[in-house]
Amino acid sequence: MSKWKILIVEDDMDMHEVTKLTLKRFDYLGKKLEFISAFSAKEANEVLLVETDIAVVLLDVVMESDHAGLSVVKFIREELGNHNIQIILRTGQPGQAPEGDVIRRYEINDYQEKSELTNQKLKTSVITALRTYNTLIKVQEQKNELSKLNRELEESQEEVFYILGEIAESRTPTSGNHVKRVSEIVEFLAIKAGGVHDEDIKHIKRASMLHDIGKLAIPELVLNKPGKLDTGEFDVMKTHSDAGYKMLRNSSKDQLRIASIIAREHHENYDGSGYPDGLKGEEITLISRIVSIADVFDALGTKRVYKEAWDYKDIVAYMKEQTGTKFDPGLMKIFSDSIDDIIGICKRYPD
Ligand code: C2E
Ligand code: SIN
Ligand code: SIN
Ligand code: FE
Repeated sequence: MSKWKILIVEDDMDMHEVTKLTLKRFDYLGKKLEFISAFSAKEANEVLLVETDIAVVLLDVVMESDHAGLSVVKFIREELGNHNIQIILRTGQPGQAPEGDVIRRYEINDYQEKSELTNQKLKTSVITALRTYNTLIKVQEQKNELSKLNRELEESQEEVFYILGEIAESRTPTSGNHVKRVSEIVEFLAIKAGGVHDEDIKHIKRASMLHDIGKLAIPELVLNKPGKLDTGEFDVMKTHSDAGYKMLRNSSKDQLRIASIIAREHHENYDGSGYPDGLKGEEITLISRIVSIADVFDALGTKRVYKEAWDYKDIVAYMKEQTGTKFDPGLMKIFSDSIDDIIGICKRYPD
């Protein structure tokens, strides 16, 4: 069973003994006290560095210097950044009590003059201090739990986006990493392109995983046809953009709304020759222009039921040739300048 740790900081030996004697039989919430003694500010700071779960400090003001006690307070609040420890200052004489603003600034929780220190008063102070300490610790534990939960939710959300994206990509069990690579490349290019907030980058990365979610609506015979699609079949295939948009557009969540735009626009071309709307240049959302580059780059490098994987050399040559027609020239400059990094991303997530 753990105990409440009480640090007694005093240069006067007798005060240590009197204090321990007074609080000997004390318990709070079924836990007893454990006393740690320090005889100077320097010693107190050394103890505080090691003992991270001290609940209360009973702190003499004047020790090796007139303000030694206050230096311990500063150490606790400012250097250790510990705002949970309850500090009870104990002054030898009335004149030594710190001013009100010092008490507030350094979060000193109580102070007493030693001459007035009856047993009952000390016990009351310690109870109050432990009650506050216990509440602060509980609050902190809850905060830690919440941020852990938050992290787990974030991670599972990313996982779900990823799985959905993968399912849509071919609806057959696949070990492929197309969705992962596209989202990594999109994140990389979005950061390089600039002007997007960190928080939005995270959303964009996830949203890009769903760019082909509309393929869920495409009949198996077309989706997995092991050869070239005829015109009619390709017309069916093209409906995956609008289908994906419709699946996601009614969401009130930012990242799903971004995903719906990406789903709709990721096959638009810079010169207006793409589908479904023939949007041109900056009419196409920046993030969709980025996804288009990442998607085609990775699709060409990957074996599909209808095609073999291309060499990077051929992919880059093709994409250069399509700059200004299919792809945004400004983004392609960033892409070309970073081609080694992008190939590196692809190699990290092989099929
Ligand atoms: P996907 O396989 O993810 O390909 C995405 C995009 O990468 C294509 O969009 C296209 O811009 C580019 N791409 C992929 N493979 C090639 C290629 O061999 N040559 C060239 N020049 N570009 C390529 P696109 O064309 O709008 O196609 C959208 C989706 O339609 C493709 O996604 C794929 O699922 C399907 N698809 C396209 N052509 C065929 C095909 O001949 N047979 C089959 N079974 N599916 C096809
Ligand atoms: C103290 O001596 O620790 C208090 C200092 C002050 O009141 O400025
Ligand atoms: C966003 O930052 O939320 C979207 C930005 C974009 O689509 O360009
Ligand atoms: Fe697509």
